[in-house]
Amino acid sequence: MIVLGIETSCDETGLALFDGQQNRLLAHRLYSQIELHAEYGGVVPELASRDHVRKLTPLCRQLLADAGLSPADLGGIAYTAGPGLAGALMVGASFAVALSLALGVPNIAVHHLEGHLLAPMLEDTPPEFPFLALLVSGGHSQLISVSGIGRYELLGESLDDAAGEAFDKVAKMMNLGYPGGPRVAGLAEEGDADALPFPRPMTDRPGLDMSFSGLKTATLNHLQREQAPTREYLANVAAGFQKAVIDTLVIKCRRALKQTGLKRLVVAGGVSANRQLRECLQQELGAIGASVFYARQEFCTDNGAMIAYAGCQRLLAGENSGVEVRAIPRWPLATLSAPGAAPAGD
Ligand code: KG4
Ligand code: ZN
Repeated sequence: MIVLGIETSCDETGLALFDGQQNRLLAHRLYSQIELHAEYGGVVPELASRDHVRKLTPLCRQLLADAGLSPADLGGIAYTAGPGLAGALMVGASFAVALSLALGVPNIAVHHLEGHLLAPMLEDTPPEFPFLALLVSGGHSQLISVSGIGRYELLGESLDDAAGEAFDKVAKMMNLGYPGGPRVAGLAEEGDADALPFPRPMTDRPGLDMSFSGLKTATLNHLQREQAPTREYLANVAAGFQKAVIDTLVIKCRRALKQTGLKRLVVAGGVSANRQLRECLQQELGAIGASVFYARQEFCTDNGAMIAYAGCQRLLAGENSGVEVRAIPRWPLATLSAPGAAPAGD
């Protein structure tokens, strides 16, 4: 079964073709709206929706041409139904359901975070179940025990800002522009992470919840202390902030691995593209005998490939989301069930 995956939950229009029989990604295309939103310093939801409308059809045509396929070759359509921006989700959902009706093939409403979580399955050495997952994106920071596809137990999460959100807000404070994560990470490369003091929030008490808003305040205080900060000072602030986020995540992951007895860690979501985070987790958790898995850099942030893969697993199990156009802006991951457990067309 060849599945078309469609991702439009935020500021990326992502499309991909995944072959379920061959267990192989055939092609993928991504259009990023970064330029569109850059002048506003963040994503403008209405502009995002309108741009998805403009880009979906041409991208879909190009994608099929890349793979040398026609719409009649598609065996199913997978789309991100949530969580995300309501209007942006609605665009992908309507496109997907309309196409599935026109072609007479099933469609499946995919959870965006399940997509992120399963993205490392597209790599040459995919993780085996069970594993611990650290999901760090613009909207979520969660530690999840994963015993199989659709079998997710939330162990801890951020009580305030998500890790990616903290990166984005710090970038804004420093006038680095949007999107913040890669820009703070870039500046941090030049800095000394130990030059300024930063807290490691909630690491001195037990539990797996996280908090990043205090770190944001500490960053603001460092920035306000200097009237005319040099580039070196700003790089030290960026490096110190980034190190504090990474240390906090490493401590929580180590604690969660210990608590669950799991030996594999999957790191997913936009922040998992961060080079230093990848290196630190690999080093620190490798030292206690855990294996760490990531998606390739381009599949850490939003993309269609992860949606095609996740949707394909559910379509192969006989699931079908039917004619209802589903856009679910808030959708807890733990409410999902294993593929095939949900009745077809419910
Ligand atoms: O998964 P994603 O593309 O979208 C959501 O589902 O939220 O994640 C986007 C987030 C943004 O907050 C962005 O700043 C952050 O991931 N991000 C990074 C890096 N690349 C993206 N954060 C830190 N370092 C990076 N290299
Ligand atoms: Zn995402």
